Amino acid sequence: MKIAVLGAHGQLGRDLCQRLSCQLVPLTRAEIDLAHPNTIPSVLAALRPDIFINCAAYNLVDKAETEPEIAFAVNAWGPRVLAQACHAVGCKLVHFSTDYVFGLDSSRTTPLSEEDPPGPASVYGLSKLAGEYLVRAADPGHLVIRTCGLYGVWGSGGKGGNFVETMLRVAGQGKPLRVVHDQRCTPSSTADVASATTALIAMGVSGLVHVTNGGACTWYEFAAEIFRLSGMSADLTPITSAQFAAPARRPTFSVLSNASAVSAGLAPLRPWPEALADYLTERRKKIP
Ligand SMILES: NC(=O)c1ccc[n+]([C@@H]2O[C@H](COP(=O)([O-])OP(=O)(O)OC[C@H]3O[C@@H](n4cnc5c(N)ncnc54)[C@H](OP(=O)(O)O)[C@@H]3O)[C@@H](O)[C@H]2O)c1
Repeated sequence: MKIAVLGAHGQLGRDLCQRLSCQLVPLTRAEIDLAHPNTIPSVLAALRPDIFINCAAYNLVDKAETEPEIAFAVNAWGPRVLAQACHAVGCKLVHFSTDYVFGLDSSRTTPLSEEDPPGPASVYGLSKLAGEYLVRAADPGHLVIRTCGLYGVWGSGGKGGNFVETMLRVAGQGKPLRVVHDQRCTPSSTADVASATTALIAMGVSGLVHVTNGGACTWYEFAAEIFRLSGMSADLTPITSAQFAAPARRPTFSVLSNASAVSAGLAPLRPWPEALADYLTERRKKIP
């Protein structure tokens, strides 16, 4: 079995590559640039993978508000060409999407299923939703996995970073932290989402599925748990999204129900605090 992974240097991509026991072809923007998709069909025709996993995305949620063209190019139009090229060579496309396809319904308080109508509140969410639809339309064998609040050890260094690292860095500098306490979701470990992805592939699951760690919290509660588990004291204050005033609107509630993945045979992912504890142990090995 030959599996190609685009975005192989991202936090989810790296964790996935480590977990795939197959003929692995890690790909980066140097081989396929989703913003310039004209080369995709020839790359796919030459590689002829059995499965193509797209972990690449334009993830700059706030910046997308002012540069929608590049967000849509990378998250929607590029994946469309990719899905068409996968279908042409008989390869299954595994594509990732986000809880930010929800958010318009601010009255929601129960976990969202794959059947719930999406309604993105941001350009980023809209571009990812467009990508989902285009992938699903172009490649009937697709697997689209919506996940949420990713953090992984490969996002713990370099230019990317992640929420956990930002919290630890700012608190380590002795600076105060004001973190939103009115956005509830499920922060998820890329290690766990990668393992779940390999399991879903092995089970031959297709279609749209939600995959996150268990439970839910606000970003403020997540930050408080990061500091508690790290034994750090931090000057941490809960604030509202209105006080934070980010350029892009985020969902107030985007907890994803994993029921459909579990009924397809996936073991439920562990609760988010357990995954966070493991992450903090792993990062200590990587960043002594
Ligand atoms: N991060 C989250 O909190 C979150 C939440 C829900 C869903 N997701 C989804 O989960 C997936 C993985 O996210 P992640 O956190 O692992 O992302 P990440 O660490 O930011 O990695 C994204 C990768 O995409 C690559 N990329 C960006 N633009 C590209 C382009 N034009 N052509 C080819 N590659 C390009 C980047 O390469 P360079 O290093 O060259 O830029 C990077 O390696 C994405 O689909 C994302 O939308 C993420």
